[in-house]
Amino acid sequence: MLLGVNIDHIAVLREARKINDPDPLDAVSLVKRAGADQITIHLREDRRHINDYDAARIIENSPLPVNMECAIDKQMIDIVTKLNPHRITLVPEKREEVTTEGGLDLIKNFARIEEISKELKKAAIELSVFIDPSMYQVKMAKSLDVDWIELHTGTYANIYAMLFSNLSYTKHSIKELELDRHSLHVKLQESLKELKDAAFEAHKIGIKVAAGHGLNYQNVQNIIQIPHIKELNIGQSIIARSVFTGLENAIKEMREAIR
Ligand code: PXP
Repeated sequence: MLLGVNIDHIAVLREARKINDPDPLDAVSLVKRAGADQITIHLREDRRHINDYDAARIIENSPLPVNMECAIDKQMIDIVTKLNPHRITLVPEKREEVTTEGGLDLIKNFARIEEISKELKKAAIELSVFIDPSMYQVKMAKSLDVDWIELHTGTYANIYAMLFSNLSYTKHSIKELELDRHSLHVKLQESLKELKDAAFEAHKIGIKVAAGHGLNYQNVQNIIQIPHIKELNIGQSIIARSVFTGLENAIKEMREAIR
């Protein structure tokens, strides 16, 4: 299993004080030394964490391929394409959200993404789209000639947290999912089946499959059982653990957990 480490939260910490450290660039050699395969960063339109200067320096100096998450906005795509990362992952973006919520709707945004797909082919940059695990979305991804899909694991992670987390139930609760434990178990299995079916379909039609969002050292165990998922992109749980154990150890532990 390939591991992409999302280092946005290092910049979140820096932005809490609006000073120069911690510098996310300092993470890239540690991420490689710890055995990860990819650096993932998200240049958001509101620049709330990673900024253009970070992105340029990370792409120029990273010993690992850089996967840049980006909204489908024309101006953002122009900026990110010029930076020439290894891969661009298109994500939905809303200014008011705390983090990316849900996958990109490839049906609604088909024409725009088709244009982006052509531009990135010319620039020889891999294209990935972050989507919900739905057959429709996978089929649309094929029509858009993407190299990768990244399956949104957030719904699965939320249900898992409602069932097994010691933290307050309400923190993770999704109103329509305020169910008894039996029903939550059923929902958990359903969410895993959706991920499994989507990964199978994508693999069958020649698209590489990544997954991510909300994955941690515990809930990742079900995800690694799913055939055809080749890569996981994980941020929050690794950076959170690194506060106590150091970044290199936190990544090594995740590396071990997904072996
Ligand atoms: N993949 C995508 C497309 C994301 O937007 C994010 C969050 O930035 C992640 C993976 C990582 O999610 P988390 O920080 O919850 O591990």
